[in-house]
Amino acid sequence: MTAQETASLGFLLLVTGHESTANMTAISVLALLRRPDQTARLRADPGLIRGAVEELLRHLTIIHLGLGRAATEPVTLAGVTIPAGDLIRLWPPGLNWSFSPDEGLEVMRLSLKAAAVAVSTLGAMGP
Ligand code: HEM
Repeated sequence: MTAQETASLGFLLLVTGHESTANMTAISVLALLRRPDQTARLRADPGLIRGAVEELLRHLTIIHLGLGRAATEPVTLAGVTIPAGDLIRLWPPGLNWSFSPDEGLEVMRLSLKAAAVAVSTLGAMGP
Protein backbone atom coordinates (compact mmCIF):
# COMPACT_ATOMS: atom_id res chain seq x y z
CA MET A 1 0.00 0.00 0.00
CA THR A 2 1.41 3.39 -0.95
CA ALA A 3 1.65 6.34 1.45
CA GLN A 4 -1.16 8.08 -0.46
CA GLU A 5 -3.42 5.03 -0.20
CA THR A 6 -2.68 4.72 3.52
CA ALA A 7 -3.51 8.40 4.10
CA SER A 8 -6.68 8.08 2.02
CA LEU A 9 -7.81 5.03 4.03
CA GLY A 10 -7.07 6.82 7.30
CA PHE A 11 -9.15 9.81 6.17
CA LEU A 12 -12.03 7.52 5.13
CA LEU A 13 -12.02 5.75 8.51
CA LEU A 14 -11.82 9.07 10.37
CA VAL A 15 -14.87 10.43 8.56
CA THR A 16 -16.95 7.25 8.49
CA GLY A 17 -16.03 6.11 12.00
CA HIS A 18 -15.92 9.40 13.87
CA GLU A 19 -18.71 11.49 12.34
CA SER A 20 -21.22 8.65 12.46
CA THR A 21 -20.62 7.50 16.04
CA ALA A 22 -20.15 11.00 17.51
CA ASN A 23 -23.42 12.25 16.00
CA MET A 24 -25.27 9.03 16.76
CA THR A 25 -24.16 9.16 20.42
CA ALA A 26 -25.15 12.82 20.81
CA ILE A 27 -28.61 12.55 19.30
CA SER A 28 -29.27 9.25 21.10
CA VAL A 29 -28.73 11.06 24.41
CA LEU A 30 -31.06 13.83 23.20
CA ALA A 31 -33.72 11.26 22.19
CA LEU A 32 -33.51 9.61 25.62
CA LEU A 33 -33.70 12.98 27.40
CA ARG A 34 -36.88 13.69 25.43
CA ARG A 35 -38.38 10.35 26.49
CA PRO A 36 -37.85 10.05 30.26
CA ASP A 37 -40.36 7.17 30.38
CA GLN A 38 -38.21 5.10 28.01
CA THR A 39 -35.03 6.10 29.83
CA ALA A 40 -36.54 5.01 33.16
CA ARG A 41 -37.37 1.59 31.63
CA LEU A 42 -33.80 1.24 30.44
CA ARG A 43 -32.36 2.24 33.82
CA ALA A 44 -34.65 -0.26 35.58
CA ASP A 45 -33.70 -3.09 33.21
CA PRO A 46 -30.20 -2.72 31.70
CA GLY A 47 -30.84 -5.98 29.82
CA LEU A 48 -32.85 -3.87 27.37
CA ILE A 49 -29.69 -2.13 26.14
CA ARG A 50 -29.15 -4.30 23.05
CA GLY A 51 -32.67 -3.73 21.77
CA ALA A 52 -32.40 -0.07 22.77
CA VAL A 53 -29.32 0.48 20.62
CA GLU A 54 -31.04 -1.20 17.65
CA GLU A 55 -34.18 0.85 18.23
CA LEU A 56 -32.21 4.11 18.46
CA LEU A 57 -30.43 3.26 15.20
CA ARG A 58 -33.81 2.64 13.56
CA HIS A 59 -35.60 5.58 15.13
CA LEU A 60 -32.88 8.14 14.38
CA THR A 61 -31.68 6.72 11.03
CA ILE A 62 -28.84 9.23 10.82
CA ILE A 63 -27.85 8.48 7.21
CA HIS A 64 -30.64 9.57 4.86
CA LEU A 65 -28.82 9.59 1.55
CA GLY A 66 -25.78 8.00 0.09
CA LEU A 67 -26.58 4.33 -0.34
CA GLY A 68 -25.98 4.00 -4.06
CA ARG A 69 -26.24 0.73 -5.90
CA ALA A 70 -26.00 -0.42 -9.54
CA ALA A 71 -28.24 -3.19 -10.86
CA THR A 72 -26.07 -5.98 -12.25
CA GLU A 73 -29.13 -7.62 -13.86
CA PRO A 74 -32.75 -6.54 -14.48
CA VAL A 75 -34.69 -6.52 -11.20
CA THR A 76 -38.44 -6.06 -10.79
CA LEU A 77 -39.60 -4.51 -7.53
CA ALA A 78 -43.26 -3.70 -6.86
CA GLY A 79 -44.01 -3.84 -10.58
CA VAL A 80 -41.14 -1.56 -11.60
CA THR A 81 -38.26 -3.05 -13.58
CA ILE A 82 -34.79 -1.64 -13.00
CA PRO A 83 -32.68 -2.40 -16.10
CA ALA A 84 -29.17 -3.79 -15.76
CA GLY A 85 -26.64 -0.99 -15.37
CA ASP A 86 -29.10 1.53 -13.90
CA LEU A 87 -28.04 3.35 -10.77
CA ILE A 88 -30.43 3.49 -7.84
CA ARG A 89 -30.30 5.38 -4.58
CA LEU A 90 -31.72 3.76 -1.46
CA TRP A 91 -33.51 5.79 1.20
CA PRO A 92 -32.96 4.14 4.63
CA PRO A 93 -35.77 6.10 6.39
CA GLY A 94 -38.20 4.47 3.94
CA LEU A 95 -37.11 1.07 5.26
CA ASN A 96 -36.67 1.93 8.94
CA TRP A 97 -39.81 4.01 9.30
CA SER A 98 -42.14 1.75 7.33
CA PHE A 99 -45.76 1.37 8.32
CA SER A 100 -46.60 -1.82 10.17
CA PRO A 101 -50.34 -2.52 10.61
CA ASP A 102 -49.59 -4.34 13.89
CA GLU A 103 -47.50 -1.63 15.50
CA GLY A 104 -48.87 1.51 13.88
CA LEU A 105 -46.84 4.25 12.29
CA GLU A 106 -43.65 4.44 14.36
CA VAL A 107 -41.96 7.18 12.39
CA MET A 108 -40.99 9.35 15.32
CA ARG A 109 -42.03 7.24 18.26
CA LEU A 110 -39.16 5.81 20.24
CA SER A 111 -40.13 2.54 21.81
CA LEU A 112 -37.37 0.54 23.46
CA LYS A 113 -37.80 -3.20 23.14
CA ALA A 114 -35.94 -6.19 24.50
CA ALA A 115 -35.69 -7.87 21.11
CA ALA A 116 -33.42 -6.34 18.50
CA VAL A 117 -35.24 -5.07 15.43
CA ALA A 118 -33.91 -5.16 11.88
CA VAL A 119 -32.50 -1.80 10.82
CA SER A 120 -30.95 -0.58 7.60
CA THR A 121 -29.17 2.37 9.24
CA LEU A 122 -25.78 0.71 8.71
CA GLY A 123 -26.53 -0.15 5.08
CA ALA A 124 -25.38 -3.47 3.71
CA MET A 125 -21.69 -2.93 4.43
CA GLY A 126 -21.07 -0.52 7.29
CA PRO A 127 -19.59 -0.15 9.80
C1 HEM B 1 -23.64 4.82 14.22
C2 HEM B 1 -22.54 4.48 13.56
C3 HEM B 1 -22.47 4.24 12.07
C4 HEM B 1 -23.42 4.38 11.10
C5 HEM B 1 -24.88 4.82 11.25
C6 HEM B 1 -22.80 4.00 9.84
C7 HEM B 1 -23.46 3.97 8.63
C8 HEM B 1 -22.89 3.56 7.45
C9 HEM B 1 -23.58 3.44 6.19
C10 HEM B 1 -25.07 3.70 5.97
C11 HEM B 1 -22.70 3.06 5.26
C12 HEM B 1 -22.96 2.78 3.78
C13 HEM B 1 -23.19 1.27 3.67
C14 HEM B 1 -23.65 0.82 2.31
O1 HEM B 1 -23.37 1.47 1.29
O2 HEM B 1 -24.31 -0.24 2.27
C15 HEM B 1 -21.43 2.95 5.92
C16 HEM B 1 -20.25 2.61 5.28
C17 HEM B 1 -19.03 2.56 5.90
N1 HEM B 1 -18.78 2.71 7.23
FE1 HEM B 1 -20.14 3.18 8.65
N2 HEM B 1 -21.50 3.66 10.08
C18 HEM B 1 -21.25 3.80 11.41
C19 HEM B 1 -20.04 3.58 12.06
C20 HEM B 1 -18.86 3.30 11.42
C21 HEM B 1 -17.57 3.08 12.08
C22 HEM B 1 -17.36 3.15 13.61
C23 HEM B 1 -16.66 2.84 11.11
C24 HEM B 1 -15.17 2.57 11.20
C25 HEM B 1 -14.43 2.70 12.29
C26 HEM B 1 -17.35 2.88 9.85
C27 HEM B 1 -16.77 2.67 8.62
C28 HEM B 1 -17.44 2.60 7.44
C29 HEM B 1 -16.77 2.37 6.15
C30 HEM B 1 -15.27 2.19 5.92
C31 HEM B 1 -17.79 2.36 5.19
C32 HEM B 1 -17.62 2.14 3.68
C33 HEM B 1 -17.43 3.51 3.04
C34 HEM B 1 -17.32 3.41 1.52
O3 HEM B 1 -17.77 2.42 0.93
O4 HEM B 1 -16.82 4.35 0.93
N3 HEM B 1 -18.67 3.16 10.09
N4 HEM B 1 -21.57 3.27 7.25
